Amino acid sequence: MVNIAVLGYGTVGSGVVEVLTTNRETITKRAGEAIDVKYVLDLRDFPGDPIQEKIVHDYQVILDDPEIKIIVEVMGGIEPAYTFVKKALQVGKSVSTSNKELVAKHGAELLALANQKNVNFLFEASVGGGIPIIRPLNQSLTADEIDEITGILNGTTNYMLTKMDTAGADYDTVLKEAQDRGYAERHPEADVEGYDACRKIAILTSLAYGMQVDYEDIHTEGITHITETDFKYAKAMNMGIKLLGTSRREEGGLFALVAPMMIAHDHPLYSVNDVFNAILVKGNALGDVMFYGKGAGKLPTASAVVSDVVDEVKHMGTHIMTIWQPQKLHLVEYTLYKS
Ligand code: HSE
Repeated sequence: MVNIAVLGYGTVGSGVVEVLTTNRETITKRAGEAIDVKYVLDLRDFPGDPIQEKIVHDYQVILDDPEIKIIVEVMGGIEPAYTFVKKALQVGKSVSTSNKELVAKHGAELLALANQKNVNFLFEASVGGGIPIIRPLNQSLTADEIDEITGILNGTTNYMLTKMDTAGADYDTVLKEAQDRGYAERHPEADVEGYDACRKIAILTSLAYGMQVDYEDIHTEGITHITETDFKYAKAMNMGIKLLGTSRREEGGLFALVAPMMIAHDHPLYSVNDVFNAILVKGNALGDVMFYGKGAGKLPTASAVVSDVVDEVKHMGTHIMTIWQPQKLHLVEYTLYKS
């Protein structure tokens, strides 16, 4: 049996406990051992809830317990997540995280540390919610030069754009709906201003090229200025509006951008609606491959987190992710109009 600790009992944390409980038998078979949640770190108490007996408020208890081999970080935000994850790796515990901010900012450093300690730092849930995309890029698409990655990478804004387009829904109402469904970030500007999609395309680009991309170098626009008129124009041209994150190899470096874009009705991303995300990857040998699924929400995100935990149990003592060189890639400057 492997004991794990979950940091944060919010939407994703409670989903992780639920998936591990509901699918216990199958997960045990796949991992080769049963996976038990021994501790849940949270500032709050949950009186009357069976989870209460696992609640701890002091992270040191988890760090000091040699039975804990794997830590799941689903708190979000940079601090204290960064300090907690770093300490876990330093004492030889593997980490699975859904925290895209953390991976986009400190991925290279944390991967190098995990590699040095022969443990794993995995982050399948950091991009595309439940969609397997990190593992395929790291372990499957290893024969190709990646020419381009383009995706709908944020469930909240895709849900909002879909409802605004198809039901003429009002911006604030649909944002509130996305929040109620557990899709939105704690600070929704991360979704609507495109910052979340920016971190995700930075992570995918770093994975594809094995080098840390600084997300702050990526030109980013959100959906806050999209109006009914934009949808009308798009429709008249047989197109739809999607918030896309894209990066591609260009002469002299890499081009990366996050912005709402019009896409034609025959584009494979056109019919990706609601909370669904999709990521189109172009390999120089493989051609196009598309990954599609629920990009946010409790159980899809928890599914990705738990899949990392299963991988960590199966590869105890072996580091499985390619490390990223911590230098910056040269990103081609964004120009809307070329003279
Ligand atoms: N707020 C994010 C989204 C959650 O809407 O896609 C999943 O990363």
